[in-house]
Amino acid sequence: MKVTIFGAGYVGLSFAACLAEAGHEVLCADADPARIEGLQGGRMPLHEPGLEALVASGVAAGALRFTADERAACEHGELLFIVVNTPADAQGRVDLRHVIAVAAAIGRHRDRDALVVCKSTAPVGTAAQVEAVLGGELAQRGARHRIAVAVNPEFLREGSAVRDCRRPDRVVIGSEDPWAIGLLTRLYAPFIQDPQRQLLVMDRRSAELAKYAANAMLATRISFMNEMARVAEQAGADIEAVRRGIGADRRIGPDFLQAGVGYGGSCLAKDVRALTHAAERAGHALRILSAVAATNHEQKGRLFELMSRHFGGTLAGRTIAVWGLAFKADTDDMRDAPSLVLLERLWAAGARVRAYDPAAMPNARGIVGERDDIRWCTTAQEALQGADALAVVTEWEEFRRPDFAQLAGELNAPPTIFDGRNLYDAAQAESAGIAYYGIGRGRSSMLR
Ligand SMILES: NC(=O)c1ccc[n+]([C@@H]2O[C@H](COP(=O)([O-])OP(=O)(O)OC[C@H]3O[C@@H](n4cnc5c(N)ncnc54)[C@H](O)[C@@H]3O)[C@@H](O)[C@H]2O)c1
Repeated sequence: MKVTIFGAGYVGLSFAACLAEAGHEVLCADADPARIEGLQGGRMPLHEPGLEALVASGVAAGALRFTADERAACEHGELLFIVVNTPADAQGRVDLRHVIAVAAAIGRHRDRDALVVCKSTAPVGTAAQVEAVLGGELAQRGARHRIAVAVNPEFLREGSAVRDCRRPDRVVIGSEDPWAIGLLTRLYAPFIQDPQRQLLVMDRRSAELAKYAANAMLATRISFMNEMARVAEQAGADIEAVRRGIGADRRIGPDFLQAGVGYGGSCLAKDVRALTHAAERAGHALRILSAVAATNHEQKGRLFELMSRHFGGTLAGRTIAVWGLAFKADTDDMRDAPSLVLLERLWAAGARVRAYDPAAMPNARGIVGERDDIRWCTTAQEALQGADALAVVTEWEEFRRPDFAQLAGELNAPPTIFDGRNLYDAAQAESAGIAYYGIGRGRSSMLR
C-alpha cells in the first residue's frame, strides 16, 4: 500500500521503516529540511537500536523515501499518517499546531480520496478538529473527494521502537468507518498474528483517550513503586525483593515496577499533564494523577538527596561521575531526562560533573551548553577518574556489570556509588570496599 508519514521523529521514522520492510511503499516527510537532507544522505537524526540498518535497507529496496516537499507528501499515500510532535506546556495545554498544519496541508494539496490517520498523541476531540480543518480546506477549493480521518495511537517504547512496531501487543483503530477500518487492517496485517485479540476497533474518542490512559497507568506504576521505595527505605526492606514479590502476581505483572530516578522522556510526564489539564477543564480533578506527577517530581531529586546526606550536606568542591544522561537506556532522547535535574542540583551545590553516556551526549551538550563544571568523557571509565562518587542514572547495558575492584581504584577514597537504577548487588559492591546507595534498598552495612 502507498503510505505517507508526516514526521520523521522517533515514532514516525521507526514506523516508516517497519512499514517499508513489510512491503509498503512509504514516503516519509518532515518539516525540518535538514533532517530530510540528512536522511536522504544516509545520516540518522536519532538513536534507536536496529533502525539505521532498517532505514538503509528500505531505501536500498526503493520502499522508503524521504521528502521535505509537502505537496508531494500529500499526493503520495492512500493512507496519510500524522506523526508529528504534540508538546504540552507546564499547565498541560497541548500544542496542536503541527497536527493542524499537516491537516491543512492535506486539505490544500490532496486531490484524491484518502485516509488521514492521527497517530500523534493528542487530546480527545483532535481527530474531529483535524476533520474540520481538512473539510474547511476542501470546501474552500470546491473539492468533492473523500478524506476520512481515523485515530491510531502509538504505544511503542523508545529503545525498542523497531521491535515494538514489528510485534505490537495490540493495534488500536479509532474509527467507525468500515472503509477506514479495512485499510488499517490491511496495512497492519504483516504485524499481527492474532487479529481477534490484537486488533482493537473502537470509536475515535475512545482511541484518543486509550493512549492517555495507557501512559497514565504506566506513570502511576512507576510513581507507586517510587513511593514504596521510600517505605522500604524506612522499613529496612529491599524494594527489589518487594518488586519481585508483587511482579510475579499475574494480576499485577512484572513490567514498569522499577523504582529509580523517576520517569522522564517525551511522553509520560507530558501526557499525564495533558490528561490532568483536560479533565480539570471538564470540571474533574484527577487526584491520583496529580499525586503521580508530584511523586515523580520529588523522585528526580532523590539521588541528589542521598548524595547530600552522604557528604554531610556539602557538595561544594566534590566531583561526581555520572553514568547515563538519556532518560532511559538505548536512546539518545534527553527530553525531560532525570539526569538534567541531578546536574542542575549538583552545579547549584558547587559540585563538578564528569559525564558519560553511550548515545545521548550530543543532545545533552546541546541542552546544557559548554560550561566549566562538566567534563564530557568518552568512556565510562574515564568519567570515574578523580571523582568522589559515581551516580548511575541510566540503565545502559554497559553499566550493568562493572569490575568493582577497578571501579574502587578509579574513584577517590572512600569510593561511593549512588545507584539510581538499582543495577548492582549491594553486598558485591561493599565487598570491594565501596559504599553503596540504591533506591529503596535499606541501609547496607557501610551506610551511615
Ligand atoms: N517518542 C515516543 O516514545 C512516543 C511513543 C508513542 C507516541 N508518541 C507520540 O508520537 C508523536 C511523535 O513523537 P516523536 O517522539 O516521534 O516526536 P519527535 O519530536 O521525535 O518527531 C516529530 C517530528 O515531526 C516533525 N514535524 C513537525 N511538524 C511537521 C509538519 N508540519 N510536517 C512534517 N513533519 C513535521 C518534526 O520536525 C519532528 O522531526 C507525539 O505526539 C508523541 O506524543 C511518542
